Amino acid sequence: MAFSEEFIEELRQRCDIVDVVSSYVALTKRSGANLFGLCPFHGEKTPSFAVNGEKQIYHCFGCGKGGSVIGFIMEIENLDYPDAVRFLARRAGMEVPEDAPDPRRNRRERMLALNREAARYFHAQLMGPAGGPGQAYVQKRGISKKTVIRFGLGLAPDSWQNLTDAMTAKGFTRQELVDAGLCRVGKSGGLYDYFRNRLMFPVIDVRGSVIGFSGRILGDGEPKYLNSPDTLVYSKSRSLFALNLAKKSKSGYILLAEGNIDVVSLHQAGFDSAVASLGTSLTADQARLISNYTQKVVIAYDADAAGQKAAQRAIGILQPLDLKIHVVKIPGAKDPDEFVQANGPDKFRQLIERSGNQMEYRLEETAAQFDLTADDGRLNYLRAAARLIASLPGSVEREIYGMRAAEKANVSKDAFLLEVEKVRRQNAAAARKKREREAAAPLRAAQPAERSLRYTDVPSAVAEEGVLNLLCRFPEQFRDLPLTKEDFTSPALGGLYEAVAARARQGEHVTMASLEQQFSPEETALLAGILQRDEITAAAADKAMADYINKIRAQRDKTTAGDDLRGYAEKLKQTKGYGS
Ligand code: CTP
Ligand code: MN
Repeated sequence: MAFSEEFIEELRQRCDIVDVVSSYVALTKRSGANLFGLCPFHGEKTPSFAVNGEKQIYHCFGCGKGGSVIGFIMEIENLDYPDAVRFLARRAGMEVPEDAPDPRRNRRERMLALNREAARYFHAQLMGPAGGPGQAYVQKRGISKKTVIRFGLGLAPDSWQNLTDAMTAKGFTRQELVDAGLCRVGKSGGLYDYFRNRLMFPVIDVRGSVIGFSGRILGDGEPKYLNSPDTLVYSKSRSLFALNLAKKSKSGYILLAEGNIDVVSLHQAGFDSAVASLGTSLTADQARLISNYTQKVVIAYDADAAGQKAAQRAIGILQPLDLKIHVVKIPGAKDPDEFVQANGPDKFRQLIERSGNQMEYRLEETAAQFDLTADDGRLNYLRAAARLIASLPGSVEREIYGMRAAEKANVSKDAFLLEVEKVRRQNAAAARKKREREAAAPLRAAQPAERSLRYTDVPSAVAEEGVLNLLCRFPEQFRDLPLTKEDFTSPALGGLYEAVAARARQGEHVTMASLEQQFSPEETALLAGILQRDEITAAAADKAMADYINKIRAQRDKTTAGDDLRGYAEKLKQTKGYGS
């Protein structure tokens, strides 16, 4: 283990979670030991992000994220556990004991070094005597030498082992090459290069490290882009191509494009705040990343139907972050790259300046779907427009856009605004119902937010959560529970139980901060949610624990009995020829 429990405990005591979170989130409401604010990890309008000063944990009832102060810093600063610890230690003026070597950190550093070497290698290939095919492609796409250098573009040669050999010669191991996603293991057990015959774009994070690659095929062919898989240092859904450059832009907005070529071409034309996601549609994490650097996003996706659909989706992801969102429509060209190459930067700047905000854009897209000369077309348009406008939080905004939509469909503004109010009432009623349903079933465990942790046996999992809750809260009461990890139907809960029970046996209290060193963010978030509940008092805990254990056993007997019966039926079928 990299950091001692004592060190983590001292750090945790010196970094009160309420203080730390308060410097990121305005905690405006109190309810019992919980302070509430708007969750920084997903968009919301009413606070469901709780910070509990007593338990020193946070938990979002909306998106399910949760953990200790260290987990919070990991999430919001996008750091791994050791770096989050260092971050907090610096804040608290504590010295970090660095003597214990951290194998994970070492592996990260090796992988970053390998990525840097690979990027250098690809770049040297493009610039060197073997760079012909790459140079021809770059020229064809109108990308200058200066731009090639600024982005560190490279060429993966059309061969199976070039990179493998070059990196092996530099001392990187097979395992390191495979782990970094640069090489694959072939049928015969040898390594081969993952990227071949492609124009290479290094993905560089905001700290300047090469974390992964995208490779575009030279010319036509499938797949157009090959991207690095997620690795120890790279997460597709949390990275944006060219954000390392865009974050320094003075333009006052981030320009969101679809393809790497669009981004490169836009930068070359002077639009130095262009970024793109890497082989996924825009994610909530990327939106949050963008909102760290700007208040305004201009979406410039491809002009085709797929691009416009992606734009609508991106709006939905960006909207909760309270960013100003504009959407550029590109006339007479398939994408921003083609447009700037054909018409020059000034014309594209005009497109940005004249771009509508997202509501104008969406109203326009909606209007285009209906025949506004026919009565039922106008009616359907108004209904759809009312739904859009009802989502606007400000009454003045609703009034302004309501007026425009009403004009467009040629009905009175008042009639239209009445329709908007009706939708708002319906939405409010639906939200209230949902809250009531949730409040009525506080102990019924919802499935974990993280899909991979889903419960297969919910009744047992509810009891398993109960065991964990009581064990964490009253460890001295339950030093020797007759349960092992194998009794748990949820592997995640079983793993957490094992760690907590081991500490309880030694009479130790478990802290979230130390568990985070061992478990994934998804697992600690699950535990944070479980720890939030404190309906059961110490006095009632013994009885409740016995009930939980019985429930777990009963569920197990039920399913194994089921298996036995099924096995018996199967046997009958085979020996006697009964059934089907
Ligand atoms: N894409 C991808 N991986 C990337 C970048 C883009 O898989 N690193 C996918 C996007 O998800 C999108 C499509 O490629 O579906 C967008 O490509 P396009 O805009 O056509 O890419 P460009 O780089 O602009 O290529 P082109 O030369 O065709 O303009
Ligand atoms: Mn494109």
